[in-house]
Amino acid sequence: MSDNPAKQHNELKQQLENYAYQYYVLDDPSVPDIQYDRLMQSLIALERQYPELKTPDSPSQKVGGAVLSKFDSIVHEMPMLSLDNGFEDADLVSFEQRILDRLNLDAEVEFACEPKLDGLAASIMYADGILSFAATRGDGQTGEDITVNVKTIANVPLRLVGEDLPQRLEVRGEVFMPKQGFEALNQAQRDKGAKPFVNPRNAAAGSLRQLDSSITASRPLRFYAYSVGILEGGAISALQTHSQRLESLGKMGLPLCKETAVVTGAQACIAYFNKIGEMRDSLSYDIDGVVFKTNSLALQSRLGFVSKAPRWALAQKFPAQEEMTILRAIEFQVGRTGAVTPVARLEPVFVGGVTVSNATLHNQDEMQRLGVMIGDTVIIRRAGDVIPQVVSVVLDKRPDDAKQIEFPSHCPVCDSHVEKPHGEAVARCSGGLVCPAQRKEAIKHFASRKAMDVDGLGDKLVEQLVEQGLISHPADLFHLSLPQLTALERFGDKSAVNLLRALDDAKNTTLAKFLYALGIREVGEATARNLAMHFLTLDNLLQADIEALLEVQDVGEIVASHIHEFLHEQANLAVIQKLRDAGVNWPDIELASPDEQPFVGKTVVLTGTLSQMGRSEAKAKLQDLGAKVSGSVSAKTDLLIAGEKAGSKLAKAAELGIETWDEQAFVDYLATL
Ligand code: IVH
Repeated sequence: MSDNPAKQHNELKQQLENYAYQYYVLDDPSVPDIQYDRLMQSLIALERQYPELKTPDSPSQKVGGAVLSKFDSIVHEMPMLSLDNGFEDADLVSFEQRILDRLNLDAEVEFACEPKLDGLAASIMYADGILSFAATRGDGQTGEDITVNVKTIANVPLRLVGEDLPQRLEVRGEVFMPKQGFEALNQAQRDKGAKPFVNPRNAAAGSLRQLDSSITASRPLRFYAYSVGILEGGAISALQTHSQRLESLGKMGLPLCKETAVVTGAQACIAYFNKIGEMRDSLSYDIDGVVFKTNSLALQSRLGFVSKAPRWALAQKFPAQEEMTILRAIEFQVGRTGAVTPVARLEPVFVGGVTVSNATLHNQDEMQRLGVMIGDTVIIRRAGDVIPQVVSVVLDKRPDDAKQIEFPSHCPVCDSHVEKPHGEAVARCSGGLVCPAQRKEAIKHFASRKAMDVDGLGDKLVEQLVEQGLISHPADLFHLSLPQLTALERFGDKSAVNLLRALDDAKNTTLAKFLYALGIREVGEATARNLAMHFLTLDNLLQADIEALLEVQDVGEIVASHIHEFLHEQANLAVIQKLRDAGVNWPDIELASPDEQPFVGKTVVLTGTLSQMGRSEAKAKLQDLGAKVSGSVSAKTDLLIAGEKAGSKLAKAAELGIETWDEQAFVDYLATL
């Protein structure tokens, strides 16, 4: 560590800026996220120690923290206008014609074409290259001061780069939430029983207008610059076209939409509009049209404005992604994990370019939250490849004979009962392995490498076997015959013989692998192993109550209840019995004597990248030796095993004087046993 805090601060700052630029602007990350996070933590720690280092452009502001009681107003020096809309090809033709008439020209006009991002407009002011304030559009004259929040947006630079920067530069652009981030945010909202956002635009608006900036920081917002407002000085002032200005903004480190183009004439605009229309679903962000701007700045100023919109620009709109229709019925589908999903059957409606007749209601909680009834008029939304969804109910239009919807208490596929653990949004079929809807996935999991490890039984083959009716639960695998297999399409004698042999081999397993193979919810490899080591026999486990399950390492209340539920469902017990009858077996677990377990009572932490074995393998070996493997270094840690690129844990262990081995030392030690 450098003993000069200012120098160290400067280095950290530059590194962070550089990484953020590569990641968010160039889309070409140069270091793993964790490295970025670590540097950020160091920067924050340093600023805590030396508050005078915390300048307005410090990357530490990306994490938020400031909490406001209200947003101040900011009057726009230059009003933020809106755009005229067009809907048909003819609107683009007459747009160009109006421009030509007004300017008394008869050539074609050059246009800058940009996807019309569906978020909200923001103005960001840079004074001598440093972000000084940011505002919402508001009514176009006065907006709100959202400086602290805008500073947390990952791809907004706090400091511009390059030579000859303008003294003042107001960058205007769109704050939006990429589709993927939106889906993840809504999933998280639903998981915690909170209200999901209706669309990415609302999510962006709601996230940007948070008084607590650390909430904004936690939301996946992005910004794309699309124009310049106030401009004083700098090389950019000499440019002649809108597209050159954007390019110049890009060079200063501002993020730009990559799908923009410059074309000449209305026909080329129509072609661009159609091309973007085709790409719409595959874009990572929502758009509601294309904005066409006269590219020449000289022509823009000659054209000027009418009332609230410029004469030189037009927003050509796409068909809406939200529509109203009538909900005719609800069906309940059972997914891979048994999740029961309510699906709305709709009066077909044309949305976002396709006819939609089904939409998801996600889960039981969401269905109740919407309070939807059969016969209701609902707003549905279809965006990208995301399944169309019901986003709200138009209560004004509810008919008198609207019918209440009952959530099923039994699985519509296998009739096992449906369970909804307290605090969870999703209701699930408890049928597990016997529910045909869950069968294929369960069998794939059962046969997978870390489970029963049936060589040559891939996903495709499992599907084929289930579809042909040859297997319906895992135990059936062990009763497959040679003639059955050779009768399958594209399955040779040799493959059949090999598969039967692999199945026979797979019968000899371990209790841990067997428990993992059962596919009990949230019982992964490690938990299965802990269960096996704790109970030693399947019969002991079958008799365990919740209390007993909670004694197992890393088993909390939720996992314990999943295990208990699974092992008390008659159908699952029957499958287990069939597997044992088919010859699935495992050796008794012998408890190693204390001298074979030299790590009993010791807490070991693993960190960094191990090259000679996987992390889970190392963990398993340590547990075999009696160690408790923990995730974080504390005074209670006895040993740290540090692989390549170990970071803060290694530093902490050194600080606490904890014994530390590198990977080779651990491998050498294992060799002595
Ligand atoms: S230019 C005077 N370019 O559309 C020109 N606007 O109705 C002002 N928008 O609120 C805007 N993408 O937030 C422009 N590439 C783009 C845009 C864009 C989205 C939004 C903007 C504004 C609205 C105009």
